[in-house]
Amino acid sequence: MEPIMFVHLTDTHINVPGKNPLFAIDAGAKLRAMFAEIGNLSQKPAFVIISGDLTQDGDVEDYKYLRQIIAEEQAALDVPVHVALGNHDSRPFFREGYLGDEPSEESYYYTFMEQGLRVAVLNTQIPGEHAGRLDEEQLAWLAQELTVPAPAGTIVVLHHPVVPTPSALMDSHLLANPNDLAEAIADTDVIGLLSGHIHFNSIGLFHGIPSAAGTGVAFGLDPTSTDSMKFIDNSGYNLVLAKGGQMLVHPMAMPGENRMLYEWKIDKDKQPAHAE
Ligand SMILES: [Fe+2]
Ligand SMILES: [Fe+2]
Repeated sequence: MEPIMFVHLTDTHINVPGKNPLFAIDAGAKLRAMFAEIGNLSQKPAFVIISGDLTQDGDVEDYKYLRQIIAEEQAALDVPVHVALGNHDSRPFFREGYLGDEPSEESYYYTFMEQGLRVAVLNTQIPGEHAGRLDEEQLAWLAQELTVPAPAGTIVVLHHPVVPTPSALMDSHLLANPNDLAEAIADTDVIGLLSGHIHFNSIGLFHGIPSAAGTGVAFGLDPTSTDSMKFIDNSGYNLVLAKGGQMLVHPMAMPGENRMLYEWKIDKDKQPAHAE
């Protein structure tokens, strides 16, 4: 089987320009710069997958703006772009603004196949909450989908990560029911998991399966900070390879200043931090 190379992006946190800009960064420009960088790779990826927090505020105009950027960049790159939802996203406004469908609270998860590789795109988002969880209906659907193996195996994409981080603070932001997911993918053809949400690269094993979280397109977080969230002006993506029955992940950094944008002192403010 030929290796399949694709790009994993996460946490684009798009806002319509001028509306409540996050740390004065232009998230749309950052996303466009990343697509330009991907277009300059020596090998064209098979597809792009974005693992949630597509928008910062989840308004319908933000999704329309994101749809416009993705439509233009997808046409220029000439590869499919798939998306998942994160805690910053709104199901109805995503459906209306991005998909052009009727707005509804219906969850958004699906599989797609590229060159024999199956990708299962999950929805860990709970409407109105920042924590992530997979509901029983979705877990049952996933287990059913995985009963038939794909030629090159399956990669699971979900916003909230499942492997521990260097920070107890960030560990509290992981998927709330990882054991349910482990049960659904046990003894199946799943070769890897990809996620976002924590805004730094984090790679480990989840019940023996490689699991990689990527840093954000819009901004990064300091993985070592335990009593505050340090927002960093950086940006990156994962180059992912499905090769020989394995998932291989190559974190790629964009040129950037790496300056601190903002520090959210958790103890001092007595507020949960929800910018991630
Ligand atoms: Fe998130
Ligand atoms: Fe995020």
